[in-house]
Amino acid sequence: MPRKIAAGNWKMNGLQSTLSELRTLEDKHGDADIAILICPPATLISACEDTPFDIGGQDCHTGEFGAHTGDISAEMLADVGASYVLVGHSERRTDHAETDALIAAKSEAAYDAGLIAVICIGETLEERESGTTLDVIDAQLAGSVPDTADAQTTVIAYEPVWAIGTGKVPTTDQIAEVHGHIRARLSERFDDGAEFSLLYGGSVKGSNAADIFAVANVDGALVGGASLTADAFSPIIAALEEA
Ligand code: PGA
Repeated sequence: MPRKIAAGNWKMNGLQSTLSELRTLEDKHGDADIAILICPPATLISACEDTPFDIGGQDCHTGEFGAHTGDISAEMLADVGASYVLVGHSERRTDHAETDALIAAKSEAAYDAGLIAVICIGETLEERESGTTLDVIDAQLAGSVPDTADAQTTVIAYEPVWAIGTGKVPTTDQIAEVHGHIRARLSERFDDGAEFSLLYGGSVKGSNAADIFAVANVDGALVGGASLTADAFSPIIAALEEA
């Protein structure tokens, strides 16, 4: 069975004072039997040392060290306690023109540092409306997921770009179609394709989480806005625990 993961992506949000949210979350979910992953800004990773949750970076460089001002390596994330890293988030693909090949290289860097790579994929609204969603997914899976990937080292997050931060959510049929497609592609390519955790992301909230988690091949969520407070994230975690 793929492991269930409730992942929070804080993006460029969070100061030291925000860490009190994690303590509240710990009171409620400190001994949960699903994985709870928090991806705070890199500045807060070492301060998360005492939480019972898994901690992840939001991006990494392809290299281990070197003259790359402002970048952070997977090795550095691991050094301060991260066990995961997000790669290929649509905001990185858009804001920093990241390509599938770069994302595959970042995933390899994550593996080398002993991190689990959460590889994000998803179509734009234009691609959805032109009926090319599954082609886009195929190209991103082929280009962003390294041949060396396996279910222990890699999580796939399907995040339709048009659903991120917009309050718009695909229908459960649309999520089922894409997640089923991703599962089939991974199973063709990898011996343990059935074991990869597949997360849905894009406007997940307490009010829609249970419906989304009831969809076949959805093993959890990658949550942005609703992961920033314990009050908003807790019902999502609870829904996944019950799914
Ligand atoms: P959202 O973001 O939950 O705020 O839509 C999801 C994400 O970007 O991972």
